[in-house]
Amino acid sequence: MSFKIRVSFEEESIEFDCAPSDTILEAARRQDILMASYCEQGGCGACTALMKKGAVSYVRSVRGITEQPEPGDLIRPCSAMPLEDLDLSPLSRWKLYSQ
Ligand code: FES
Repeated sequence: MSFKIRVSFEEESIEFDCAPSDTILEAARRQDILMASYCEQGGCGACTALMKKGAVSYVRSVRGITEQPEPGDLIRPCSAMPLEDLDLSPLSRWKLYSQ
């Protein structure tokens, strides 16, 4: 079982699968998607994205944002696991390695 993660940035969008036990960052990397990140611990904010649809839980404590986000809230994909299909709009561009 996996969830669909759709990421939209300006005119572009990409979609990939994420197992419920993976963080969004782990799933993106496994599928050759370069996601903005730095600390990978939920603290720096480099990976921050607007969650337009869906729900997540966190594998670790995150700083500066709600730990129980609802659609319309910011999330930290380096530390978030999907609970359902997600529609995200990152604050920094993500891209495919192959492009
Ligand atoms: S990479 Fe630092 S909060 Fe996600």
